[in-house]
Parts: sequence; structure tokens; C-alpha cells
Amino acid sequence: MKNNTHVPFLVIGSGIAGMSTALHLSKLGKVILCTKSKLISGSSPLAQGGIAGVINKNDSFESHIQDTMNAGRNTNNKKAVELLVHQAPEEIQFLENLGVRFEKDQHLEGGHSFPRVSNSKDISGKIIIETLAFNILANRNISIMENTELCKIDAQNKSISSRSNNTNNVNRIFAEYIIVATGGYSSLYQDSTSPKENMGDGISLCINAGIATKDLDKVQFHPTVLNKKRENKPQLLLTEAIRGFGAKIIDKNGKEIIDALQPRDIVSKAIYYEEKKQKSKNCVFLDARNIKNFSTKFPFIANILETEFALNAEKNLLPITFGAHYCMGGIKTNIWGETSTPDIYAVGECAHTGVHGNNRLASNSLLEGLVFARQIAKSISNKIKNKNKKYSENRIYKENKNETVYDESEEKYAQYNSEFLETIKNSLSQYLSIEENKIKKLENIQIVQKIFKDLEKNNYKLSYRNKNILTLVQRLAKDAENNV
Ligand code: SIN
Repeated sequence: MKNNTHVPFLVIGSGIAGMSTALHLSKLGKVILCTKSKLISGSSPLAQGGIAGVINKNDSFESHIQDTMNAGRNTNNKKAVELLVHQAPEEIQFLENLGVRFEKDQHLEGGHSFPRVSNSKDISGKIIIETLAFNILANRNISIMENTELCKIDAQNKSISSRSNNTNNVNRIFAEYIIVATGGYSSLYQDSTSPKENMGDGISLCINAGIATKDLDKVQFHPTVLNKKRENKPQLLLTEAIRGFGAKIIDKNGKEIIDALQPRDIVSKAIYYEEKKQKSKNCVFLDARNIKNFSTKFPFIANILETEFALNAEKNLLPITFGAHYCMGGIKTNIWGETSTPDIYAVGECAHTGVHGNNRLASNSLLEGLVFARQIAKSISNKIKNKNKKYSENRIYKENKNETVYDESEEKYAQYNSEFLETIKNSLSQYLSIEENKIKKLENIQIVQKIFKDLEKNNYKLSYRNKNILTLVQRLAKDAENNV
């Protein structure tokens, strides 16, 4: 069954980027916020670090800009970085006004030359997202559609098709402005800090709709991920802030393998090469035994270490590896969040503004969601003023006879094929993670391209979800080839 809904503003995704965009847009009119599972889900609530921002008088914007550019290897969009950094204090204040209570002291994290991360200990994302959700739920201009999966973006008619995971009903939602805030695709790697739903659906559907993407191969690996799997949960992140308090990264002989406070691409690389040298994934450890009162500083992590793994950070070494954590690449946007298609915007991890360059600085990602959400609201507000017309719910949409409408008969194939997923995860993790040697890199890219081509030949067996993943990873491999 297909229902048609019309709304001025449609936001897809309920992480920090989607929620804050919805809150800003609600001042301009009615918003539908749809999300694949629960309102509170995805990777934002898992963020431990916090929000980087210059609020201490001994710190400076120049220093935060420089640290962001250094981490990104100076490949960042400088204009976007300046905006991000200058806007940060206002965004921290915005969250405080909504009800977030940050700790008194800002944390130091890898790549930062000053302790400038506003935090709620090691559950910053959870506190921020719960506060945003509270404000969203109290907002009469925002309607929430939970368990609603995006199936198709129709750029021409500015609509989406979505499917309710509860009723299986397919809805078509027409909007004046569509904002894609669907997060990244780190869960397509074997070791990952992301929840399993982070498969880049929004990005694949934008590709299908002809919307430009950029640098999908630029995936960031977090260096301190507990090297132990968890049932139905992402691997445990051991926040950068632990290293900010003095923890070291050591090999099995107790020797430090890298300055632990370097930006995370450098630290991850050191772990990657150590694992290669030792031909083992179990040879690097985080040594946090020198941190007094670990469980007071990091209560969330300490509790999981103890209850799930019988580990005590003040006594035991913590086995770590690098894990896919954040996607720098995504749907190409300018600093107003505008994609290549008019009135379709992208924000947060699914977007590529160029702000992070080749490697994101710690705790710049929640900040990115907030800053570019505000930019989008400003852009839309200006457009509305310029058009000088109000949104009309009675707007007539012309159906294009030739358009490929989302095919409901595919429902029976809607599940993720686990064998397919394993092949994708193995291919990306084995061949497209941290290799630096150009010849080896090109060889690896050819191997994965062949694997993906073979999967494509079996296309008829794949569900639409699998096809979307394939679309994304093929674009990722192409970008990797172009960027070698
Ligand atoms: C962390 O706490 O280490 C993660 C923060 C981030 O990804 O920016």
C-alpha cells in the first residue's frame, strides 16, 4: 500500500546532524524526521569524546584551525574549517541552552594542542542525543517517523519512498526541501565502532538518484578499539581522552610503538604495521594502568570492560586494534550543505564538505553535525525569503511515467544476505584499509573491483539493500583508484 504525504521539510536520519537540522527548520515550518530504527539510534549516541571548541581564554581559533588542518594533512577545505572552528563556541552554548551539562574541564585528545573537548565524561554523545531527542519530542512542528527505511530518493520530483519496518507499508513523502543525514558506512568493515545499521543507505540512494558524491574511499580508522567482538553490538571504543590522560600504546614486550597523542591516522598506521610485522591481530595494547581513578573518569568504558570482559584498566593491559570509525567521504556539498541537486541537502557523516580533509581531527564530528545543520537552516531560510512564497500543501506533483518507482515486489528479498555482507566486509578490511604502498594499493583495488563485479553478475539474487551496498562499495573502489 502506498500513502502520499506532503511536507515542507523532510529530514532523513536522527543523529546529531538530523536532529539539530530538524530543530532549526521547525522554526520555519512543519518537519518530518524519519529514522531507520528508533529516534535514539545510530552512531551519535555512541560518541564518547565530545565537542571540540575554543572556550578557554588561553586557547585560540588559530590553534584549533591549525590542528584540524594538520590532522587532515592540509587537504581540508579551509573555508569550511574556519567556519567550523569559529562556530564551535556558539554550538556548545546552543547545546547548553537545550539542557546539556558538560563537565567543568575540557579534555585533551589526539591531534589537539590544547585540552578543548567539551565532554560529559565518556558518554558525551548519549547525553547530547538524549537532550536533543527531548527537545524534538516536545516540538509540535516535528513529526517523527521511526522504523522507517529509506528505499528511494526521487530527485526530480523531490520525494522519497520509504518503507515502515513495522507495517511494511510503503510511503511516498514529497517535500520542498529534503535533508539527508543518514550517517556513514563504517559497519561495512570487519572491525568497526559503528552500529550495524551504518551501511551508507542514504549515500547509495543519492548515487542512484544522480547526486554527486566525493572521496568515498576516505574512511578513518580509530586506533584504540578493543580487540574483542561483542554480540550484536559494535566493538568497544576506548576514547582518545584516555590517551589524553596519559595512556600509552605498547607492543607485547611493553615497548611504546608510537606517541599516542598523534592524530589518529598516524597511530592507526603504526598499529597496522605492527600487526603486519607480527602477523597477528593480537599484539598491541593500550596501557592505561597509570591513570588513577579510571572508573571515575571513564565510568561507561570501565563498566563494559569489567562486566563483559573481566578487564580492569588500572590493572590489565587492554588489547586493541584499529577499526573503521568515521567516513570523511560522502555526498558532495558546499558549506551550505547544498548537494548537486537543488533543494536536496546533506549533513553530518554522510556529507562531504571537505572540512576534515584526509583525516578528521578527534571530536570535530559532532561539531560538524551542529555547524552544518545551522548552515542548512540559514540557506533554506534565505531561499524562502527570496522566493517570497509560502509552502503550499496542495502543490501538484507531476508523476513521470518513465520513472522507476520503488518496486514493492522486492520486499521478499529485503533482508541483508549475510554471505554477501561477509564478502563485502572481508574485501574492504583486507584490501582497502590502511595500505600506503601505491603498487600494492592498486593491486588491492583491482582485486576488490573483480570481487564486486562478480557480485554484480549475481545481481538477480541480491535484495535491493544488497544492491545499494554494492553501488556504494563500487563507487568507493573507483574513488580509491582515482585517489592513488
Ligand atoms: C573518541 O572519543 O576517541 C572518539 C571521538 C571522535 O571520534 O571524534
